Amino acid sequence: MLKDKNIVLGVTGGIAVYKAADLVSKLIKQGANVEVIMTEAAMEFVNPLTFQTMSVNPVHTGMFNKIEKFDVEHISLAQKADVILIAPATANTIGKIANGIADNLLTTVVMASKAKVIFAPAMNTNMYNNPIVQENIKKLNNLGYKFVEPGVGRLACGDYGAGKMAEPSDIVEYVVSSFVKKDLLGKKFLITAGPTIEPIDPVRYITNHSSGKMGYSLAKCALDRGAEVTLISGPTSLKAPKGVNLVNVKTTEEMFAAVGQYFDLCDVLIKSAAPSDYKPEHINTEKIKKKDGKDDNIDLHLVRNPDIAQYYGNKKTNQIVIGFAAETNNIIEHAKRKIKKKNFDFIVANDVTKEGAGFRSDTNIVTIIDNKGKLNSLPLMDKKGVANIILDKISDIIKNKS
Ligand SMILES: Cc1cc2nc3c(=O)[nH]c(=O)nc-3n(C[C@H](O)[C@H](O)[C@H](O)COP(=O)(O)O)c2cc1C
Repeated sequence: MLKDKNIVLGVTGGIAVYKAADLVSKLIKQGANVEVIMTEAAMEFVNPLTFQTMSVNPVHTGMFNKIEKFDVEHISLAQKADVILIAPATANTIGKIANGIADNLLTTVVMASKAKVIFAPAMNTNMYNNPIVQENIKKLNNLGYKFVEPGVGRLACGDYGAGKMAEPSDIVEYVVSSFVKKDLLGKKFLITAGPTIEPIDPVRYITNHSSGKMGYSLAKCALDRGAEVTLISGPTSLKAPKGVNLVNVKTTEEMFAAVGQYFDLCDVLIKSAAPSDYKPEHINTEKIKKKDGKDDNIDLHLVRNPDIAQYYGNKKTNQIVIGFAAETNNIIEHAKRKIKKKNFDFIVANDVTKEGAGFRSDTNIVTIIDNKGKLNSLPLMDKKGVANIILDKISDIIKNKS
């Protein structure tokens, strides 16, 4: 994801410096070239050798070091950076940059560069909540500098509160998303994900194997590409991407109602959930007891749930509506029938019995079929890759409409 990208990582003097070594490793795994600048305070915590070894590059520490070759370090670093990431970012360095101070290599590189600058603040809660620090962050935000918000938790100083540096994996994710094209900027996406559950009695329910991974990947990628995303999710074990409007539902009826709340104002509806088609006609208010005796079977009578995709597909005005067809046989035939009946712009069909495709897997093998019957069969890909191809197609439809 970060192949051929030059990341200048500014490491400043906070206790979270130790996490920056992991950050370097994660950035390199994504293909980035990482050049580390350490402040003097940072070197009190960790020896530059750590970062030199992790980044496989010399570590830059001072502006007035003996010049080995003619290369004004702060200018060459400022020019080669695709992104300047400062992690951990101390209150001191944030304050200096907010106020135009360039008195060490890092602050001077920031001053001399046109690259995007991302801060991952890390400090004691009282420091973080200090109005001066907050004012500096606000000023930088208004000037287009970016912040990966610190988490809340137990801090190294023993206090509990905001100020804990974001996890390296979240910082890397933020950096990756900063390179993503914003072709869906401001578009309102409504995405459904996961299974629904239909209660039988207070302790039992009917559900399916949907994990929600496809819908959550779509939500994350759409967000990264600038969309405003409402994610209507059945019960899953997944963490919703930061920035989505998450609406939790349990049953198909609840999902149907939630879609209805947002549908009129959305530009795109993606129906990647697997809602139950059927539900028990009666929900027992008490736990159904096991029967003893000759006839110890019970009958469960199921009735139809509303067909969310069909209802909203046929209700659409200007919206783009995308459906999913998870099938076990005659995939293309079933999908083609669905696309007509449900008035989709296109459908994403997959054979859930195939290895690497379907519900719980991190990968998928899909065929995209448009409303003119054109097929695009994709190879085995991770769900993020599939999500971006689906979003490319939506982006093309939006462009052709305008
Ligand atoms: C043990 C210790 C831990 C520190 N942790 C932090 C911290 O987490 N965040 C912070 O803003 N400052 C922290 N400081 C204070 C900074 O090191 C100090 O403000 C320093 O001037 C920062 O310089 P720099 O921004 O150039 O790296 C800590 C200081 C010490 C001695």
